[in-house]
Amino acid sequence: MKMIFSRLPIFNLLHFLAPASSTFFYPTVQSSLLEHILVDTHGAHASDFIDAITPCTNYVSGSQTLGRITSAQWIRVAFHDFVTADVAAGTGGLDASIGFETLRGENSGSAMNDSLGFFRPRVNSKIATADFIALSVVMSVGNCGGPQIPLRGGRVDAIAAGASGVPAADSSLEETLGFFGGAGFNKVDSIGLTACGHTMGNVHHKGFPTVVGAETVSANNTGGGVHFDSTVATFDSLVVHEYLNGTGNRGGPLVTSFNVSSRSDLRLYESDNNATMAGLATHSNVFFDTCVDLFQRMLNTVPTGVVLSDVIKPMPVKPINATLDFDNDGNLIFTGYIRVSSMSYIISDQIAYSHQTLAPGTSAAPQSLTLTTSLNEQGLHLSPESETGSSIFGSTTFFPFNTQISKPEAFTSFTVSGPGISSQSFPVQSGAFVVPSLTTVTATNITTATIRFSVATRQGSGGYVSRMMKRDGAKAPNISIQAPVAQEGTLGPKIEAFNNVAVAGVGQKAGYDVWEGSVIVYDWTLGPLSISVLDGKGAEVDVAMVN
Ligand code: HEM
Ligand SMILES: *[C@@H]1O[C@H](CO)[C@@H](O)[C@H](O)[C@H]1NC(C)=O
Ligand SMILES: *[C@@H]1O[C@H](CO)[C@@H](O)[C@H](O)[C@H]1NC(C)=O
Ligand SMILES: *[C@@H]1O[C@H](CO)[C@@H](O)[C@H](O)[C@H]1NC(C)=O
Ligand SMILES: *[C@@H]1O[C@H](CO)[C@@H](O)[C@H](O)[C@H]1NC(C)=O
Ligand SMILES: *[C@@H]1O[C@H](CO)[C@@H](O)[C@H](O)[C@H]1NC(C)=O
Ligand SMILES: *[C@@H]1O[C@H](CO)[C@@H](O)[C@H](O)[C@H]1NC(C)=O
Ligand SMILES: *[C@@H]1O[C@H](CO)[C@@H](O)[C@H](O)[C@H]1NC(C)=O
Ligand SMILES: *[C@@H]1O[C@H](CO)[C@@H](O)[C@H](O)[C@H]1NC(C)=O
Repeated sequence: MKMIFSRLPIFNLLHFLAPASSTFFYPTVQSSLLEHILVDTHGAHASDFIDAITPCTNYVSGSQTLGRITSAQWIRVAFHDFVTADVAAGTGGLDASIGFETLRGENSGSAMNDSLGFFRPRVNSKIATADFIALSVVMSVGNCGGPQIPLRGGRVDAIAAGASGVPAADSSLEETLGFFGGAGFNKVDSIGLTACGHTMGNVHHKGFPTVVGAETVSANNTGGGVHFDSTVATFDSLVVHEYLNGTGNRGGPLVTSFNVSSRSDLRLYESDNNATMAGLATHSNVFFDTCVDLFQRMLNTVPTGVVLSDVIKPMPVKPINATLDFDNDGNLIFTGYIRVSSMSYIISDQIAYSHQTLAPGTSAAPQSLTLTTSLNEQGLHLSPESETGSSIFGSTTFFPFNTQISKPEAFTSFTVSGPGISSQSFPVQSGAFVVPSLTTVTATNITTATIRFSVATRQGSGGYVSRMMKRDGAKAPNISIQAPVAQEGTLGPKIEAFNNVAVAGVGQKAGYDVWEGSVIVYDWTLGPLSISVLDGKGAEVDVAMVN
């Protein structure tokens, strides 16, 4: 359990964790958060998610001498979660049910709880554990030498264990193909998916003694890991070449095991006389394109009724932490950053990503931007921060902004323009918002959080926040708070909703009524909490993610 808290500083009781963050997310909260993890990998304002797989040989859940690597574990977890799908019945697939299934023999090894333990303090009401499983595969492949797999969000976590049926090293070919078939993968697909999966990582003596022998255990490989190919932490086609040529690791332990019954990869790969493997070896593009296609199908196999989002594309111009707030003098202000990306990365042509550039011939970010609001066409001149970021998609530059809003009822959008970028407008609603500077999360102890929030509702803005509760003689907003909390039997959190949270009016600022409330969350798993202001139909008017 220790690793769960490893990203936090030393824990103090009553420690003030962080102020609240953003309210306006573009294009959606979920898409904005996923895009952030994908694109903001290095430098300023980076997400720390990628650190777990940097370098790609890193093991984030324990000693580096165990012979385990996180990037490969993430890929294996996705396969085990997915392959028990029954696509005919519309059940199972990428739904994080794997978290409830770690004690099954077919899920032996530390990968499942290592990975879910890493995702646990990140899971929130907008990004389920199952989305983190998908994201982690995209990150491992894309950042460890492989192609960019299009990512969609919107997966829904199972609330209990699902069906069994993961192929094992000693499964017969028929049984193995039966499991894959249930998940919608035919023989050619199964060979391809397995070769794509078995280009990274190890088979370990600890966990799989009937596949690899005890002689593999040494002082700097205490788990006895044996690589599938000679580039254990690179997503490449080498496993296919080494298998066909009998060179290097010759396809890995599931081909070469001393124990004939444990040679599941050999049985699978030669089940069509090596034709599929030979096809994958013709050109590295064939291997990459096949893997992108099959991994995408694996990640997008979800239960009937789950609707996935559009592909998350890197945004050339992205408002970050854009929010309304009050300054110390009680004025209404609009603050945040505009992130501009160079997007020089060429994305595989068969993939749904478009190759986005700022403008033809432009590779660097502009030195200035102009931000105009629907109120003020004169424009706010923005200069970049000295900090920049970078990722496989190119570099990013951050332009902070902070502008006073005098007529909020007329503030309905803002437009960003600058040399070399096509101007873009983003909608805004100013009817009601969570006030970031007056919202805090305090941890009483390691699993208990107290959220004290403030919400502002514009006087006379009933059109935005309708059917509000009458309280204190004024119309109080309808607040829902969603918190990731522990559940029995899995490290994957569930989301606890606090609806109709009581609020009290505490005064007025800049033409807004200000309301306060608080909620105590028990069994908190440390992930971001969402505070939503709802309209009369229960739709979110504003959301703040805080932790
Ligand atoms: C015939 C089907 C398969 C069988 C029998 C099988 C079996 C195994 C076994 C026994 C291990 C060793 C685990 C450990 O020692 O911790 C392993 C590792 C792995 N498998 Fe598979 N596998 C199959 C298909 C797949 C597929 C389709 C994928 C991905 C799409 C995949 C991804 C991985 C990865 C990445 C590892 C390395 C994990 C690590 O280094 O911790 N496998 N597999
Ligand atoms: C946005 O807010 C979050 C939460 O406060 C913070 O972690 C992040 O660094 C902020 N992003 C930027 C670009 O300032
Ligand atoms: C070979 O694998 C089979 C199936 O897992 C197992 O029953 C048997 O004990 C193994 N043999 C050795 C020598 O490890
Ligand atoms: C592991 O240890 C062996 C012997 O102690 C040494 O020869 C080898 O270079 C080490 N390998 C790594 C990767 O540190
Ligand atoms: C086998 O190795 C030879 C020589 O290194 C190489 O030219 C050939 O491309 C390899 N074949 C496959 C299928 O990897
Ligand atoms: C498939 O290729 C492997 C590795 O080169 C070889 O050992 C095996 O005999 C081949 N099987 C068939 C049926 O061609
Ligand atoms: C944290 O505090 C809450 C409320 O006082 C209590 O119910 C809970 O048992 C405590 N948990 C731990 C881990 O100390
Ligand atoms: C994984 O974690 C869950 C939840 O804490 C626990 O019930 C399960 O026993 C763990 N599995 C393994 C293999 O340790
Ligand atoms: C507040 O929102 C909840 C959904 O969280 C809804 O069930 C309830 O009817 C709303 N209350 C009012 C007074 O609009």
